[in-house]
Amino acid sequence: MTGTDTLFTNISQLVTPRPGVQRGAAMGDLSVIPDAALLVSDGRIRWVGPRAEAPGTAQEHDLGGVAVVPGLIDPHTHAVWAGNRLADFEARVQGVPYEDILARGGGIRSSMRATGAASVEELVALARPRLQALRTSGATTTEVKSGYGLDFDAEQKMLRAIQALQAEFHLTPTLLIHVPPTEGRTEYVRAVCEELIPEVANTGLAETVDVFCEKEAFTVEETRQIFVAAHANELHFKLHADQFHAIGGTELACELRALSVDHLEASGPAQIAALAASNTVATILPGVTLHLGLPAAPGRALIDAGAAVAVGTDLNPGSSPVFSTQLALALAVRLNRLTPAEALTACTVNAAAALGLGDRAALVPGQRADFLALHSADWRDLAYTLGANPVRSVFVSGSGIQA
Ligand code: NIG
Ligand code: FE
Repeated sequence: MTGTDTLFTNISQLVTPRPGVQRGAAMGDLSVIPDAALLVSDGRIRWVGPRAEAPGTAQEHDLGGVAVVPGLIDPHTHAVWAGNRLADFEARVQGVPYEDILARGGGIRSSMRATGAASVEELVALARPRLQALRTSGATTTEVKSGYGLDFDAEQKMLRAIQALQAEFHLTPTLLIHVPPTEGRTEYVRAVCEELIPEVANTGLAETVDVFCEKEAFTVEETRQIFVAAHANELHFKLHADQFHAIGGTELACELRALSVDHLEASGPAQIAALAASNTVATILPGVTLHLGLPAAPGRALIDAGAAVAVGTDLNPGSSPVFSTQLALALAVRLNRLTPAEALTACTVNAAAALGLGDRAALVPGQRADFLALHSADWRDLAYTLGANPVRSVFVSGSGIQA
């Protein structure tokens, strides 16, 4: 034992999925250890098991008889933006479609104008409380995308804002190629591939490239070109696809072994089959279903077909103002028909896999000691609770960062 060992005790239930990506029926397979203890050494889990079998240690931390689950991973956010979309919201609830607002130069394009006018420091100040809210709800690792840059400088400004918050919130940065310019899109895609992606890879400002593949955004062929450039520059890639129309993005992403395909509200049997036959994670975003009134992504059908499903907030000003990763988990149970156990797996090991991370999200020896102590002795309150926070304390690398 070293001076940094801590034995966490008085855990009513220690609940965890198996480490690594879980597909199909295995998503519902959790380990639940009653009256458990958890030994942390140098920020990593060294031992878990029944309290009665715990190894002796110098320092003990009594968690007060509540349930412990892994820290949540939020695999899809757009947490950096300036301005707001409150006028869009009012128009939408009175019947104007999201895609029509975008086609008229509003929506995402209005967030681009406001974000383009903000400094890095302003973007950091705007994003920090949003990330704090996700953290308070249980997110111990969060993906954040660029994508509101009108030009390449603005995209890199967003990535610098993410970089400034990276250590504080354990962020994974993604370059999002979001909407094409109204003129010169061929030239734009060429410059993305030949200038922006190599630059971002060289400076280390992003680990992954994402594309919005949709009728109002990029075509499948343009997406393919961008993926090829990401691969050539040794970056991961993932995709926004099938949000409004299934135009072939999911099939392309599975063919090219993307980390994940996200949204899937318009996916049908062909897309479900492609995901089930691939190693690509299907990331569903129930906040979008709630906020835009879209059909729910077929979470139940994806799992039944054998796919690996993850869940994220998609926190953004236009389609999902959901500031709680726990709420995304709880909504996936209601809207996408996941069981509570599947939803926990979706928000932990499968979300980690959607980010290419294998060192966290399961409470087993060797993993990062990122975990949550709930208010409740029964872990299922995590999936049950709507509108209050069932997470009492958040631990990252074994340190309590929120009491
Ligand atoms: O994931 N659909 C594309 N992008 C975002 C929305 C961004 C916005 O509306 O500002 C999404 O839903
Ligand atoms: Fe998104």
